[in-house]
Amino acid sequence: GAMDKGAYDYFMLKEIHEQPKTIEETFRGRLQNDYSEIVLGGLLNVFPKIEAAKRIVIIGCGTSWHAGLIAEYLFEEYAQVSVEVEYASEFRYRKPVLSSDDVVILISQSGETADTLAALELAKSKGATVLGICNVVGSTLSRETEAGVYTHAGVEIGVASTKAFTAQVTVLTMIALKLAKRKGTISNETYKVLVKELAEIPEKGRAILDDGEKIKAIAEKYHEAVNALYLGRGYLFPVALEGALKLKEISYIHAEGYAAGEMKHGPIALVDNNLPVVVVAPQDDYYEKVVSNIQEVKARKGNVIAIVTEGDKGLKEMVNDVIEIPKSHPAVAPLLAVIPLQLLAYHIALLKGCNVDQPRNLAKSVTVE
Ligand code: AGP
Repeated sequence: GAMDKGAYDYFMLKEIHEQPKTIEETFRGRLQNDYSEIVLGGLLNVFPKIEAAKRIVIIGCGTSWHAGLIAEYLFEEYAQVSVEVEYASEFRYRKPVLSSDDVVILISQSGETADTLAALELAKSKGATVLGICNVVGSTLSRETEAGVYTHAGVEIGVASTKAFTAQVTVLTMIALKLAKRKGTISNETYKVLVKELAEIPEKGRAILDDGEKIKAIAEKYHEAVNALYLGRGYLFPVALEGALKLKEISYIHAEGYAAGEMKHGPIALVDNNLPVVVVAPQDDYYEKVVSNIQEVKARKGNVIAIVTEGDKGLKEMVNDVIEIPKSHPAVAPLLAVIPLQLLAYHIALLKGCNVDQPRNLAKSVTVE
């Protein structure tokens, strides 16, 4: 059950391994007709409003905010709607320009995060349509929003969010594709391809987890690092942020996530032979550019751990360590690429003797400001 660790040493490891199953739970009843159609019952009545929205504002904190950043790329590319992603703690004290033309999506695993709830009330007071993406059934967020989608990842106990994140990204992908279909901004063919790609994620995730032991050896090499840099581009930029957050939270190693193209504007100054640089570098449209970022790091003696597409030979020669992930469409790649980063953080924290499930100073749900 969700409340016991079973064969695992920590809830976090259990929850990482549950992801193929929890993503299937997130799909359940929502990917229909032999996985060719998306049905989101919770949004049925509000879809006309979402279609009419001039802008979608997505709000969350921490990992939930990272899920929102991935959604920004999805909504813009496929549903052709302008998106802003905001930290709840900032949004609630700004003077945001919002009206009934706007749709606000609040993302929260717990549904009890104080800043997110305050942002919700502010958006409501401005007349915006407020929607929730939430894991905890009956939580304040789910009660206070007009409509929403539950992530159905099951109880998440590890303070470092893992399966709730992949469930959030799964829900956001379904919303983006459904919205695009309704608006006619996606071709039938692309829609079908992407729904199928999404449906294939659990199986590909299982393959990554089956091979997960290899990541232990990589953790052995880098667990004494003081700093780490995580790089990614496009859909994988938010994954770099999420990987860095995981490492910071549970291992107390200072880690920064960066858009790979921004490296030359500052963080490259940090690169030396003590710096592990984790680069999310699958074979997508950014591949060549990310490869040249890797060369820049190598030229300064940085240690590169690259997340690559299965069978990538070029990078294997160039970097210190590779972790392979199955090939996928770039729009669903975050759901796969994040898994090795979760495992890397876990194994490093374990080697450092940290309490992985309950890191110091952190609460599972931040219900006070
Ligand atoms: C994630 O690993 C963190 N512990 C934290 O950033 C978390 O995502 C954040 O506090 C938001 O929580 P929520 O999703 O329950 O609102």
